[in-house]
Amino acid sequence: MERFVRQFVLPMITTKTWRDICEIGASRGESTDCLLTLPDVAVTVVDPCLDLDLKARYANDVRVQVWKGNSLDVLPVLNSSYDCILIDGDHNWYTVYNELRHITERELLRRGGMVFLHDVEWPYGRRDMYYQPDTIPPEYRHGYAQKGIVRGCSGLSDDSQFNSDFYNAVEEGGSRNGVLTAIEDFLCRYQGEYRFFRIRGQFGLGVIHYRDNRSKDSAVTLFVLHAMVHNLITWPQRIAKTHLPSVYSLLKVALRRA
Ligand SMILES: C[S@@+](CC[C@H](N)C(=O)[O-])C[C@H]1O[C@@H](n2cnc3c(N)ncnc32)[C@H](O)[C@@H]1O
Repeated sequence: MERFVRQFVLPMITTKTWRDICEIGASRGESTDCLLTLPDVAVTVVDPCLDLDLKARYANDVRVQVWKGNSLDVLPVLNSSYDCILIDGDHNWYTVYNELRHITERELLRRGGMVFLHDVEWPYGRRDMYYQPDTIPPEYRHGYAQKGIVRGCSGLSDDSQFNSDFYNAVEEGGSRNGVLTAIEDFLCRYQGEYRFFRIRGQFGLGVIHYRDNRSKDSAVTLFVLHAMVHNLITWPQRIAKTHLPSVYSLLKVALRRA
């Protein structure tokens, strides 16, 4: 997510002079560090700290508050509201749908603010992945296995190494499966309040803008235009990467040498 943070999230925070940020799923803090390059931000991090002790990592930075725990346990007890919220935690329908529900019902996002969600495209746009399968109620959890994912194949593969360390849903698609499906189901329930658009590539960034009907927001219009231009100019590269992966790799090597 770090590249999206640099390219899209930081400029938006700067333009809007946003201050209060919540980051769900921070891993080793790469995106957090990126956010902290801005002088006046306060970052609330929510993460069970499976990769690193983030409390220790940010113990000396008063701008960072770390909640060590799962988002669905922490969001119900947070007592602040945020200008923007980054979601890159547990990539499954149940978690993402309920994160968005808590954000709305507890008014954790200020009007005019944005939620940025990573992994809205393949492989987890339409397929669940579980960091801690036991935390997902069985009725919402798909069959899963620690096996690799192959683009274009619904089932998992013994031969693919791609994300084979993770607990991936054994089938892609269908109802209540994947990050993008969770967003669509959320938007369906809370129609009219939000605008949604996607920034393509790098596994996809979803952006949910909480409409503020009291004022026209030219910064948001410019942001959407920026996203559209990005989607357009990266289209040939994305098509080559997806449909002609060996030609794409060869071209990349050739360009690097040139
Ligand atoms: C893909 S990594 C995040 C990467 C990070 N956003 C970055 O840009 O470097 C996913 C993170 O989500 C965390 N995580 C897993 N389940 C979670 C949950 N239920 N709530 C919050 N975070 C979770 C994991 O500990 C891991 O650090």
